[in-house]
Amino acid sequence: MTRVRVAAADAFDDGSRAVVTLNGHEVAVINHDGECYAILNRCAHDGGSLDEGKVHGRLVADVTEPGERDVERFCDEPSVTCPLHGWEYDLESGVHVGDAGIRLPTFDVVEADGNLYVTDGESAD
Ligand code: FES
Repeated sequence: MTRVRVAAADAFDDGSRAVVTLNGHEVAVINHDGECYAILNRCAHDGGSLDEGKVHGRLVADVTEPGERDVERFCDEPSVTCPLHGWEYDLESGVHVGDAGIRLPTFDVVEADGNLYVTDGESAD
């Protein structure tokens, strides 16, 4: 398992953001409403930096047929919107909100010894 230090846990409060390098890839770390999320910091569309994106409740809709959405609302599960052209990703799963076939890797954020770390979740064994 690889882990990279983000910050002191008590200094990374709601609204904090950071970018770390894990296994050669930039990862955006975002504290939203007290929960920390880590997602690849490279939009699948054209490489936008998600650490600069707006975070908000994810848009959900009841689709009755292709192109027809009866009800749209924002849920409590957060998403991040790419600042370049607006692609939106669920922060927990990394799945594109409008196309479940597109997904960015997400990573675990753990606290140890008063610090926050991003991990790749893989065992070294
Ligand atoms: S680069 Fe992210 S939406 Fe275009």
